[in-house]
Amino acid sequence: MKAFVKRSAAPDDIALEEVKIPTISEDELLVQVKAVGVGIHDSYFLPQEIDYPYVIGIEASGIVEEIGSRVTQFKKGERIAFISMMQLKGGTWAEFAAVHKDSLILSIPENMDFTEAAAVLVAGNTVLRALTALHLNSGDSVFIAGASGAIGTFAIQFAKARGWVVAGSASPKNHDYMKSLGADKTVDYRDPNWANEVRKWMPNGVDAAIAIQPGTGTESMHIVKDGGTVITISGDRIEPERGITAAFVPHKADVRNELHDLIEQIASGTYQLVIEEVYPFDQALEALQKTQTRHARGKLVLKME
Ligand SMILES: NC(=O)c1ccc[n+]([C@@H]2O[C@H](COP(=O)([O-])OP(=O)(O)OC[C@H]3O[C@@H](n4cnc5c(N)ncnc54)[C@H](OP(=O)(O)O)[C@@H]3O)[C@@H](O)[C@H]2O)c1
Repeated sequence: MKAFVKRSAAPDDIALEEVKIPTISEDELLVQVKAVGVGIHDSYFLPQEIDYPYVIGIEASGIVEEIGSRVTQFKKGERIAFISMMQLKGGTWAEFAAVHKDSLILSIPENMDFTEAAAVLVAGNTVLRALTALHLNSGDSVFIAGASGAIGTFAIQFAKARGWVVAGSASPKNHDYMKSLGADKTVDYRDPNWANEVRKWMPNGVDAAIAIQPGTGTESMHIVKDGGTVITISGDRIEPERGITAAFVPHKADVRNELHDLIEQIASGTYQLVIEEVYPFDQALEALQKTQTRHARGKLVLKME
């Protein structure tokens, strides 16, 4: 099968190669991949010890081609979206993927196509988990740093759906976009005065901040009220001050049910799924490079021919 593989430990040594279709154990499904969700993490979210060449990628959608004898929840021919990460057998940037039955796997609603389904789970899972660490009430406020990418696009909408007041940062070309998702206040992270603007808008500080971009945790904390919360999606460590709680995404939070609802709500139009560009599979490295600019709007997806 065709697959994008990491060929060595050298960063970004990734190329399209012909590799064997993985064989599955009794606890796995073999999926014919139809579309792949792309993220900056695809080049570095890898198991610690791998054999090269290693198929990269952690999320996709496709059709169940084969099931192991202990797989009972899914059947051959079913349309699924899934996250499969840190698997020694490799990831999702391939024509076929072996997926453990305990991975995050969801059936795709009838009125959703593979391209859309491939774009939901990693961003949805990350934001839903992050929100479990914010104990806010309706009417409370949140600032989202770097809010027009894949994570921010969901974060703004989920925050508004919870009744929170939302400010987001991005460059000016994305301010109307953030407002269209529900942001009440937008600022330009390149403007040296942006924190004052947020302070003017919310004089006591916001109740919480979601710092998506690496390096934005500390500056976001400065506009959070005493005793508020900052979540760093990128995993940045910050030195909390003024009784502020600093947290990472709680990776153990179980949001399977919420993700199931989310995929249905996207299919029914309750939430917007924004895909900036769909790339043919063989142009995957262009998509990866685009995520590395950190200026993609919403999600990028690869489509198998
Ligand atoms: N913890 C987890 O489970 C998890 C899972 C997935 C991803 N992640 C992390 O989430 C991040 C990716 O998020 P993403 O795909 O939504 O977005 P992204 O592409 O990293 O960021 C895009 C957003 O950040 C803005 N931005 C760019 N440079 C900035 C800067 N210097 N300061 C503030 N904002 C800036 C962009 O605005 P403009 O385009 O308008 O300039 C845009 O709004 C990665 O760091 C990834 O590691 C974490």
